[in-house]
Amino acid sequence: MKPMAAFRSQFECRNDDVFLASFPKTGTTWLKALCHTILHRHDQEEEEEEEDILTKKNPHQVVPTLEFSFLLGRVQHLLLSPRRRLMHTHLPYSYLPEEVTRSPKLVYLARNPKDTVVSMWHFYNQVHKGSAGPLSVERAVESFCSGVMPWGPFYEHVLGYWEESKKRPDEVLFLKYEELCREPKEQGRKLASFLGRSFPSTTDGSGGTDDDDEVEKVLWRSSFGRLKELEVNKYGAVGEQGLQLSHTIYFRKGTVGDWKNYLTLDMAQCIDQVTRVKLQGTGLSLDDF
Ligand code: A3P
Repeated sequence: MKPMAAFRSQFECRNDDVFLASFPKTGTTWLKALCHTILHRHDQEEEEEEEDILTKKNPHQVVPTLEFSFLLGRVQHLLLSPRRRLMHTHLPYSYLPEEVTRSPKLVYLARNPKDTVVSMWHFYNQVHKGSAGPLSVERAVESFCSGVMPWGPFYEHVLGYWEESKKRPDEVLFLKYEELCREPKEQGRKLASFLGRSFPSTTDGSGGTDDDDEVEKVLWRSSFGRLKELEVNKYGAVGEQGLQLSHTIYFRKGTVGDWKNYLTLDMAQCIDQVTRVKLQGTGLSLDDF
């Protein structure tokens, strides 16, 4: 059976499953680390610091992307796990197996299109280093604007989840990379509360709240600076031969607005124009930061 068909036919949803979804290069690694940390933070507090699984495994090993797991024949372990399952997909909403669309908790992370293109362009050139010639940034922008992208087109991908989050806000949470960067504590609390793992919130009399330490710890554990410097993410690779990516490739810059260093005014305007047309009337903005 083909991997996707196997995925569709073998997957059975559980009441406490959590699904993460994202377009590639929009912060998937962060979302995986953050959600895993939120869900398992009490386990970590009870155990020794060394037991933090993110110090031993890359976030993509901790939270698998389902379509890759099926491709690599590694899905049984995940499907049969007795623990609360946290899974990820890059598939557009309309491609999700029906079982997954019934998932009680689905979190989508979106990122502004210009940083997504730039991140994708760097990623492509890293992956194909030494084989295909380098992809120019012009070609990357052209491809993006015409919707020719892996798991693309980008806008349809984002809008599929956006529409769903408006219809089913208790089941589908739509987050933005830029908001996570700008207001990490607020967004972290929102995410934890959505996942049923709220941080206790008690005013401590000094203007802060008692739970600040807990939120900050979770954010730190999943932060770019920390993950990038962990030994596990400096060496090794995820996947297998033929579909293997070094851990370092997932941690490049981790900022908002890096596109300004690579895109010409024309390229930026071209993307902005497509963004305007595609998002018109949807109530979604991806450049409001
Ligand atoms: P840049 O290439 O702009 O640096 P994905 O995880 O979907 O592949 O996305 C990768 C992008 O997310 C990269 O962006 C990467 O640096 C950034 N990233 C990875 N881990 C992050 C983290 N913990 N916090 C913020 N950004 C992170």
